[in-house]
Amino acid sequence: MPNDVGSQWNAAELVEAAREHLISPAEEMAKLGTVTRPMLTTGDGVYVTNAQGRRLLDGPAGMWCTQIGYNRREIADAISAQALRLSYNSPWYSVNGPSAELAARIASLTPGDLDHVFFTTGGSSAVDSALRFVQFYNNVLGRPDKKTILCRIDGYHGSTHLTAACSGRAGNRPNFDLALDTVSFLSAPNVYRRPKGMTEADFLEFLIGEFEDRVAAIGPDRIGAFLAEPLLASGGILIPPEGYHRRILDICRRHDILYISDEVVTGFGRCGHWFASEAVFGITPDIITFAKGVTSGYVPLGGFALSDAVLARVSGENAKGSFYTNGYTYSGHPVSCAAALANIEVIERDGILAHVRDIAPYFQEQIRSLKQLPLVGDTRGTGLVACVECVTDPAAPEATDFDKEVSRRIDHHCYELGLIVRPIGNMCVLSPPLVITKAEIDSLIAILRRSIVLTQDELRAEGRWS
Ligand SMILES: Cc1ncc(COP(=O)(O)O)c(C=O)c1O
Repeated sequence: MPNDVGSQWNAAELVEAAREHLISPAEEMAKLGTVTRPMLTTGDGVYVTNAQGRRLLDGPAGMWCTQIGYNRREIADAISAQALRLSYNSPWYSVNGPSAELAARIASLTPGDLDHVFFTTGGSSAVDSALRFVQFYNNVLGRPDKKTILCRIDGYHGSTHLTAACSGRAGNRPNFDLALDTVSFLSAPNVYRRPKGMTEADFLEFLIGEFEDRVAAIGPDRIGAFLAEPLLASGGILIPPEGYHRRILDICRRHDILYISDEVVTGFGRCGHWFASEAVFGITPDIITFAKGVTSGYVPLGGFALSDAVLARVSGENAKGSFYTNGYTYSGHPVSCAAALANIEVIERDGILAHVRDIAPYFQEQIRSLKQLPLVGDTRGTGLVACVECVTDPAAPEATDFDKEVSRRIDHHCYELGLIVRPIGNMCVLSPPLVITKAEIDSLIAILRRSIVLTQDELRAEGRWS
């Protein structure tokens, strides 16, 4: 009989097994086999419990994904029923009911004519498949040189060979080979770290000018797509200046460059809408990638939605005998798609998008209130995603190692006080489950505030900061 940890083994045996055999994402190789990450055992609503029985508020919603919260019977039932009805079918020569229905549901939720959906196994494979579509598209159109992908420093798009190349976070690069020959990086739209003395309006002009100059320098005939998160999530909740996406989309349209909006984080309610591209940022891109929130993290699923107008150029009479030979054994997996349908139903039935729109201003106001603390350099966010940036030296142009240590200390205190916070460099990033209540937000903010104050007191006592 499985115990609370979900296994026949006891917690000590499992910790040992993890230490001996498990390789985790971002594994610090020098410490392999000497440290284990906290083992989580159960979840309920916005809380998880660890193997020591400590209840923790899940500040990052797992990895930006547990939208409707843990322990939802509706999703478990849908998964169980579909696993018993039809646990698998090959997407190469058959379709299943849940994937067909889900494709239609997603087509009805995306903006514009993004009415065709390709399913993958997660976010990296979603973006990778979209990028491979861009390559396929331009080859079929007889434009084999139109392949460069424009992306941004500090963007994150995944861990496949191609998506890793498009990800602009310096820390992810050492010791990996990257397909950089097809990628060109633009500045991060980081309003907080914009050049000193530049207004936000001037910064927008700089970003747009840089984009135009880059298109001219590479040549529009050599650029296939612009790949962009609506807000840079793992890059530190960077929300571009108002009008940025609209103006870049206009440039893309002028040069027949496809615009891929990577909504792996923002999709399925994070900003109070099914998708943020149109509803929050005023654009209808050519492709939207999604994953994570589509199943609220209960089972893996990802995909991309594609514009009919784009598809028409390489299908039917225009296909020239081509096959989009990109696919996965688990494309449109029936159990994952059944979970996604149940998830969408819960989001609709419980009015979760409206709840996010109602409660987000309170969440953001509470996050902003932390700015008064001397260790906090900036706070920012939208919807139910936010970031507290720790800055020990306001004159430093970028985050220092000390800033990063400060943020790790804050995260450690939060954990001890009952809150999981995602540490990213010198930033404490929060994106709680969308069902979070006002009282739970109060508890989250109280723990975060207390942890920042504790850290300030410690640093002063150590004589390292004043
Ligand atoms: C914007 C964005 N795109 C793609 C990915 C990759 O998704 P996955 O980890 O599911 O492969 C992530 C992961 O965090 C992401 O934040």
